[in-house]
Amino acid sequence: MADNVTVLDHPLIQHKLTLMRRKDTASADFRRLLREIAGLMTYEVTRDLPLSYERIETPLAEMDAPVIEGKKLVAVSILRAGNGLLEGILDLVPNARVGHIGLYRDPETLEAIEYYFKVPEDLHDRDVIVVDPMLATGHSAAAALDRIKARNPRSIRFMCLLAAPEGIQHLTERHPDVRIITAAIDDHLNDHGYIVPGLGDAGDRLYGTK
Ligand code: URA
Repeated sequence: MADNVTVLDHPLIQHKLTLMRRKDTASADFRRLLREIAGLMTYEVTRDLPLSYERIETPLAEMDAPVIEGKKLVAVSILRAGNGLLEGILDLVPNARVGHIGLYRDPETLEAIEYYFKVPEDLHDRDVIVVDPMLATGHSAAAALDRIKARNPRSIRFMCLLAAPEGIQHLTERHPDVRIITAAIDDHLNDHGYIVPGLGDAGDRLYGTK
């Protein structure tokens, strides 16, 4: 495995992921499970954020206590399925700033085409987590990272639920400096760009649109 990829193999994440993969899992359960997994993943994704110390008073004494250093974290969701992961991040980091990037896949070429882009203006010096549950071809993720990098963040990470080897390869070639954090790496992409065995269309399963 490329050394820019981290697979979070925690049993709670793996168990919940299996429930999500089952084709009979209802949308409400799928949404709740994705949010829970996102919270668990956020715990690891933020592990290396730098700390600084500030002087506080407890009821008993003064102390230098750790706080996350610098400006507020930014979570950027690739629409629409990214929103399923976003909720779980915000559960743990409620003060995070939020951005949205709308990209759809051209059905013929599978290339990413942007239709929406709204992120906090001052990404400079902020840590950014870009989220999309499915890293399939990697085209959308790479296009999203191009746009975010142009704003000079302090750091940038990509968090997904499932990754295809093809997506990891494409994203690593385009953005070798970006850490990819995923719960699993599946076998392959099919001819329609779906991850196999995967879990189907994450957006449709989240929102019950099919
Ligand atoms: N997007 C999805 O929702 N599912 C896949 O398998 C691939 C891309």
